[in-house]
Amino acid sequence: MVIGVLKEPGDEKRVALLPGEVKTIIGMNVAVWIESKAGNQAFESDAAYAEVGATIKERKSILQAADIILQINEIDQNDMAAIPSGKVIMSMLSPLANHELIKFAQAQQLTTFSMDFVPRTTRAQAMDVLSSMASVAGYKAVLKAAEALPHFFPMYITAAGSIKPSKVLILGAGVAGLQAIATARKLGAVVEAFDVRSAVKEEVMSLGAKFVEVEGATEDKAAGGYAVEQTEEFKKKQTQMIQDHAIKSDVVICTAQIPGRRAPLLITKDTVEAMKPGSVIVDMAASTGGNCELTENDVTVVKHEVTIIGDSNLPCSMSVDASFMYGKNMINFLKLIVDKEGNLNLNWEDDIVAGTCITHAGEIKNERVKQVIEANN
Ligand code: NAI
Repeated sequence: MVIGVLKEPGDEKRVALLPGEVKTIIGMNVAVWIESKAGNQAFESDAAYAEVGATIKERKSILQAADIILQINEIDQNDMAAIPSGKVIMSMLSPLANHELIKFAQAQQLTTFSMDFVPRTTRAQAMDVLSSMASVAGYKAVLKAAEALPHFFPMYITAAGSIKPSKVLILGAGVAGLQAIATARKLGAVVEAFDVRSAVKEEVMSLGAKFVEVEGATEDKAAGGYAVEQTEEFKKKQTQMIQDHAIKSDVVICTAQIPGRRAPLLITKDTVEAMKPGSVIVDMAASTGGNCELTENDVTVVKHEVTIIGDSNLPCSMSVDASFMYGKNMINFLKLIVDKEGNLNLNWEDDIVAGTCITHAGEIKNERVKQVIEANN
């Protein structure tokens, strides 16, 4: 069996497998084909891949003949059209938003595993690419804020006088938020965090941050560790509380999300207007509408003397470690679908395999995706 790795589209610098991970996968009794120059932006040459036993190929050959095809960013319709039916794709397809692409994969009879759909369970943690990428992004978001802020993060006692530490407010304490808290604390800032899930309070506090609470949040254990939509009354209280804390902060890092929905609006235009001049907002939720009303996706803007950074692909700027983590996640997932002899073995009894699969044999396998697509047609 052949596993093929495509070069990522556009300005993307990551690659789905680095040579170290290719070597592990070849040890699973399969061949690995790498598209020429796929690793260049992660500082890995074609020669480095060849050295660990991979074959360097042109894109067309991989699309036409590989059994399992890996790409981090979604594989588009043009590429899908070149892949024979029955073959397997592992890529982040955002199936709840990309309806046409999923219908195309269904019609092409491709087996698609959308890596952004790995269930958030303990066993699946080692394959959870969203967590891997969110953790890279949470770290980088704080560094970006520190770079844009006209203040030190840590307290400084100098001969010229004492400088107070910066105050950082983190909205959303999931994977990205927790990493952002840890990074901001390491840089010496005083950190506060807010989340609607009370379960994260202890984690927030154990990282040395203060947990900001708003009473009356709706929580649902059945949501699998994710947040759910809040009542209008709660949203009002939340906006006021966030404003009270944001105006005392130097940096706000926004990471709040509810899967499959627009990002919750937490920082209004009025809040930005009331913030200290020179303060910085990094809105990690920019691609799903932003937690801040004035965020522009993939752009940095200055509004009311507040810098608002809406970078939606922070992991791209950490191509080496982000690719390393993504590759490790791929190995762990491949171990579920490739048997000891190196053959494809799709076990639909496995909740991770079943939960990550979007299309197979001309059907949309994932019930949630199916319902959303049907409701929109
Ligand atoms: P997550 O689902 O682990 O965490 C989101 C947190 O937001 C949860 O703890 C949830 O309870 C909380 N939340 C939801 N509604 C809230 C509200 N109204 N107020 C306060 N907290 C609320 O998500 P993860 O993996 O940490 O990702 C966070 C965000 O970062 C997502 O929007 C994701 O798309 C984005 N992201 C951005 C990247 C970038 O390069 N900009 C890279 C990776 C992720």
